Amino acid sequence: MYSIPHLDIPHLDRVSGHVQLPGSKSISNRVLLLCALSSGRTQVHDLLDSDDTQVMLSALEKLGCVIERSPSSLHITGIGDRKTDPKELHEIFLGNAGTAMRPLCAALALRGVKAHLTGIARMYERPIQDLVDALRQIGADIEYLGNPGFPPLMLNPSEIQIHRPIQVRGDVSSQFLTALLLALPLVSEHQSIEVQVNGVLISKPYVQITLNLLDNFGVKVINHDWASFTIAKGSRYLAPKEVYVEADASSASYFIAASALSNGTDPLRIEGLGLNSIQGDIRFVEAAQSMGVNIHAGPNWLEIHPSKSTLKGIELDCNHIPDAAMTLCALALYATGPTTLTNIGSWRVKETDRIQAMVNECSKLGAKVEFGEDWIRVFPIEPSKWRPASIHTYDDHRMAMCFALAAFNPDQVNVRIEDPRCVGKTFPQFFETLFSIAHSNAHQIPVICIDGPTASGKGTLANRVAQALGYAYLDSGALYRLTGLAATQAGIPLEPNQESRIAELISKASIAFEGEQIWLNGQEVSEEIRTEQMGMNASQISSFKAVRAALLDVQRNARQLPGLVADGRDMGSVIFPDSTLKIFLTADALTRAKRRHKQLISKGISANIDVLHLDLLARDERDMSRKEAPLKPSEDALLLDNTLMSIEESVEWVLEQWSKQTALLKLQKG
Ligand code: DC
Repeated sequence: MYSIPHLDIPHLDRVSGHVQLPGSKSISNRVLLLCALSSGRTQVHDLLDSDDTQVMLSALEKLGCVIERSPSSLHITGIGDRKTDPKELHEIFLGNAGTAMRPLCAALALRGVKAHLTGIARMYERPIQDLVDALRQIGADIEYLGNPGFPPLMLNPSEIQIHRPIQVRGDVSSQFLTALLLALPLVSEHQSIEVQVNGVLISKPYVQITLNLLDNFGVKVINHDWASFTIAKGSRYLAPKEVYVEADASSASYFIAASALSNGTDPLRIEGLGLNSIQGDIRFVEAAQSMGVNIHAGPNWLEIHPSKSTLKGIELDCNHIPDAAMTLCALALYATGPTTLTNIGSWRVKETDRIQAMVNECSKLGAKVEFGEDWIRVFPIEPSKWRPASIHTYDDHRMAMCFALAAFNPDQVNVRIEDPRCVGKTFPQFFETLFSIAHSNAHQIPVICIDGPTASGKGTLANRVAQALGYAYLDSGALYRLTGLAATQAGIPLEPNQESRIAELISKASIAFEGEQIWLNGQEVSEEIRTEQMGMNASQISSFKAVRAALLDVQRNARQLPGLVADGRDMGSVIFPDSTLKIFLTADALTRAKRRHKQLISKGISANIDVLHLDLLARDERDMSRKEAPLKPSEDALLLDNTLMSIEESVEWVLEQWSKQTALLKLQKG
């Protein structure tokens, strides 16, 4: 996941391949709660792992559920057969997860649990009064600890008595009704219970998910045309042994849209979700089709074909797909004619005021947008009118995911997504997944090259800059070290007359980088290649022309979305001559010797500063005077002498140069 202040997405051109999407948030949190309220142990497969499910899981653990995690599934043992101690206070933090706050409030009130329910500041702006009012009708004792009508809440155990139908409003959020329906089977053993909905029920598909899952857990609810619901007397939860969570249909909407916006010809296949889904947002498929998106679908798969040229604006009542409807706004930017989405008043009380947020950010990109209390109209942006923009995401995962789609814009302007980490709410690996199926033309993927003499700290600097920008990191020196190691292991002398053998050997080797780890032919060699001797060997063989040629493609193939920081000798001159920023890092030889000395000592390797100093001078001399790729700054490189600078200062300096460069690029493009 990208835990960086912002992520710059270069122009995205094509999409292809297939994706397996994470589990549905709505299903995951409902299933977890139902398992918790049942007795016995249930295995849950394909559960979403995100901020919202994490807060639910920690809450359930605090309430006494046993959670056993394994890589492929999770076992949860419920508390259905346990007595509650009414005096024990439970402190429960629920972040900004509405799908945890509402149902837990209802369930804990009905189980007679004493609990203090808290969350982040935005949670305290999200209404809960309609649910609390409904629960108070049957005797629940719930206090508002902050603003009346909003969390935080204190639940005090009380006697629950149901004498008449429970009234609940259904026109602000369907989660209030869902919360009641999920919790009421706790008290339906001796009586049937009726819930009457006041106002026209919104987001019915989400209530349908609730009904389907209750059915899965042995509770039958009679739906009287969405106006009232009856839970039969004697209903109680019966957890199935196993539950499978479908892929998230709202998350699928971004991939459907991305594939529709592709300039290529290949389709994208989405696995784990099809037209038989119980999620309401599956009907995004119809909405996208009505905009002209070419989608084929089966029971457990969707296949989307590029459709940019046929996209047209639509007018649609989106009450049935409130979350996925946001993605229609992103598609609308590319359509012919305006797109009007109505009946989306619930957007105002979601993670942020989504109507206002959508208006603000679409406008930044250059779109004309009209809106009202519960509708929005987005006009397409004509080619040549797109503006580079830094998209504010309002701590709303859907804003970040929707606006990533702006990176397909025909003007090829960069799109900056602020606080990309917010996707963690429902889809922590969203950007990684997007970059695994999206392609850019190589020259559009930014590369920062950092070169400099040995022990100048270029590796550390490059690595840190890569982390700060969310870019990949290429340690090209490691490739030469690997080559030296491979040759030594194969018994080939590191002599000039052996260069073609060494080159052939390395071009056939399997090389893999995984985070800090480096693998050669299936063997982890990260530590082994770091010795001084390996550095000397690398220095020697890196002057062989054939070896350099053999490593060319491996290095060029490291260019990947959303960008690359590459360190090493000829990065800026030979490997990535078109790179956006080239830095030549240096420091005086004695300082470098001291740094290397410190590094070796910290690893428990004995070393002498004077010897290291002389070695470095000799290595510099050899690297500078050699014929192939001599050590010298490329003409367009910026010089950074970091003799008196800390690593943090050097990173800051490079990031500043990078911001200047990208600002310049934006001006050129704008
Ligand atoms: O950066 P390093 O110490 O891991 O590099 C090992 C040797 O490889 C060093 O002598 C320079 C050489 N090298 C090179 O010639 N070209 C590169 N792109 C990277 C390193």
